[in-house]
Amino acid sequence: MASIVMEGVYYRYRGQAGWALEDVNLRLPWGRILVTGSTGSGKTTLLRVASGAARVYGGEVRGRISLGGRPVLVPQNFDAFILMPTPRMELVYVMENLGLDPGEIDARLHTISRALGIEGLLDRRIASLSAGERQRVAIASALATSPDILMLDEPLAYVDPQSISRVLDAVTMLGVKAVIVAEHRLHSLRGWPSHLVYMEEGRIRYTGPPRDVEGLPLSIAIQLMDPGDAARVAEARGCLG
Ligand SMILES: Nc1ncnc2c1ncn2[C@@H]1O[C@H](COP(=O)(O)OP(=O)(O)OP(=O)(O)O)[C@@H](O)[C@H]1O
Ligand SMILES: [Mg+2]
Repeated sequence: MASIVMEGVYYRYRGQAGWALEDVNLRLPWGRILVTGSTGSGKTTLLRVASGAARVYGGEVRGRISLGGRPVLVPQNFDAFILMPTPRMELVYVMENLGLDPGEIDARLHTISRALGIEGLLDRRIASLSAGERQRVAIASALATSPDILMLDEPLAYVDPQSISRVLDAVTMLGVKAVIVAEHRLHSLRGWPSHLVYMEEGRIRYTGPPRDVEGLPLSIAIQLMDPGDAARVAEARGCLG
C-alpha cells in the first residue's frame, strides 16, 4: 500500500485562471520523501492538496486522491499552526481534543518533547522562543496528533541543517510512517530521501529513487550526490571540460 496515490489530479486556486497542479499522477511509498522543484513549481500546493489543507483556499480540485493513513501538514509559516500560549498547553490541547486520557497525554508529552529537544521550553511563552524553537514546537504539535504521514513545507527556511536532520530522525523514531518534505535546499538533505519527486510548472517531472541520474535533471541529481560521485557524473556528461 502506498502512502499517497494521486491520479489525474488538477488544482486551481480560487479566482485563478490557470492550474497550479496539472495532471498529477503519483504513487508515493512509505518512507522519507523529498519534493523539490524551483520556486512556484507547485511543491506547497501539492502538500496542501494531498493533506486536504487546500480546502481552506476554496479552489477547484479534480481527479482522485487516496491516502494510506492520517496526514498532517506543518506549513512554512508554522506560527499559524501553534494555537496556545506555551508549548505544554499546545501539546495538551491537541491531545485532549483527540480524547486521550490524562495518563496517556502525560506520557506522550514527555516522549515527544524529549525526542524533539523541547523539554526545557515547555513552559516558556511561545512568543519568547526563537524561530527554530517555535518550528520544533509546531512539529511537536503535529506529532501529538499521531499522524501516519507528516508533511513539512520548507523546514530548512529558519533552521540550520543539523537541527533539521535531528528533527527528521526523531520524527521517524516516533512512528511516523511517511515524512514528506518540500524543499529546494537539496545539499542539506543529501542522503536523507528514500524517494524523490521533482516538479516543474505544476507538473510532476520525476518520481522515483533519488539517485536515478538518468531520469533527473543534472542540476538536481548532482546536489543529491556525494561530491565525488557528482564530479564523475558531471565529467561523464561532458560538463567539466
Ligand atoms: N494562495 C494562493 N492563491 C493563488 N495562487 C497561489 C496561492 N498559493 C500559490 N499560488 C500559485 O500556485 C503556483 C504554485 O505555487 P506554490 O506555492 O505551490 O509553489 P512552490 O513550489 O511551493 O514555490 P516556493 O518554492 O516559492 O515555495 C504559483 O503559480 C503560485 O503563484
Ligand atoms: Mg512553497
